[in-house]
Amino acid sequence: MADLIEEIPPEVTRRLGKALFAIPLPSCRRKTRWRIGLVETNGPVGVAAGLDKEGLYTRALSYFCPGFIVVGSTTAKPRRGNKPPLAARLRPRSLINAMGLPSPGLPVVLSRISGIDYPLFVSIAGFTAEELLAQIRYVERYGHNIAAIEVNLSSPTYKGLWDEAAPLLESKKPLFIKVGPTSELRAYLNLAKRGGHGLVVTNTLPVSDQRLGVGRGGVSGLWLYPLMMRMLERARSYLGRDVPIIAAGGVMSCKQVKAVLRLADAVEVLTGILYYGPQLVGRLNACAAADLDNKRI
Ligand SMILES: Cc1cc2nc3c(=O)[nH]c(=O)nc-3n(C[C@H](O)[C@H](O)[C@H](O)COP(=O)(O)O)c2cc1C
Repeated sequence: MADLIEEIPPEVTRRLGKALFAIPLPSCRRKTRWRIGLVETNGPVGVAAGLDKEGLYTRALSYFCPGFIVVGSTTAKPRRGNKPPLAARLRPRSLINAMGLPSPGLPVVLSRISGIDYPLFVSIAGFTAEELLAQIRYVERYGHNIAAIEVNLSSPTYKGLWDEAAPLLESKKPLFIKVGPTSELRAYLNLAKRGGHGLVVTNTLPVSDQRLGVGRGGVSGLWLYPLMMRMLERARSYLGRDVPIIAAGGVMSCKQVKAVLRLADAVEVLTGILYYGPQLVGRLNACAAADLDNKRI
């Protein structure tokens, strides 16, 4: 099936997915109680930031029994993304994308998902510390159903912006700092430790690719998996067990989930969903939860 999907242009599968996800489905009732630091979820395997940037598919995604859903990344104000083509395939089971952080703006996204009773994270992006802090304050104030905030400090769209300027962030909601393969990892690990935040390891790997409208983008999927594992190992050995770490990068099988959960507190999936469909995340969540009950509440 995934081999067949590799033949279809990514723009076609993206539009098809958009139409299917717009169907209003009820949330999954199956719950495996799980904890990622201070955050309670319905299991260890969630949907990564970027699949549902606008909050339009959150309810439909919750039907497929993910442990949690990360909505976004949002920006403080509406923002147009890059010019297409926005994505290209890379074999096996990988992608290069350059969406350019399109967003209708955080207030619109939060209002769309405000009635959803499911473990939700919001991922925020921004080009200045003020833009990030304004969004953190907004989620604190209006995001009553938001369990945690992911701070995207590693989008390839930033072109390295945050490496020198990562602010010390304060939040009443649990924060997870998202790093990328080219981030200055040690600085971010210290930031997470000092601030009492969690980490997400990793965002996509920035590369050049002339098939994309802007000539460059970020690699996700299987290609990213070994790199993610090395970063995860480094992060865990530096931080010890105190800091919660969520892993993202090419996870698509139960075997991978089990390997990752030896080091990470949870897993996020995106490219695997684009290749295998949204039921993948529920399947991975169920198999991981059955295998690992030592972290259950
Ligand atoms: C199409 C696409 C859009 C993405 N958008 C975002 C985003 O808005 N914010 C973010 O933090 N990460 C974004 N990511 C990165 C993913 O959340 C994830 O970290 C990365 O793709 C590795 O996981 P995967 O291999 O399971 O896709 C995006 C990835 C893809 C493929």
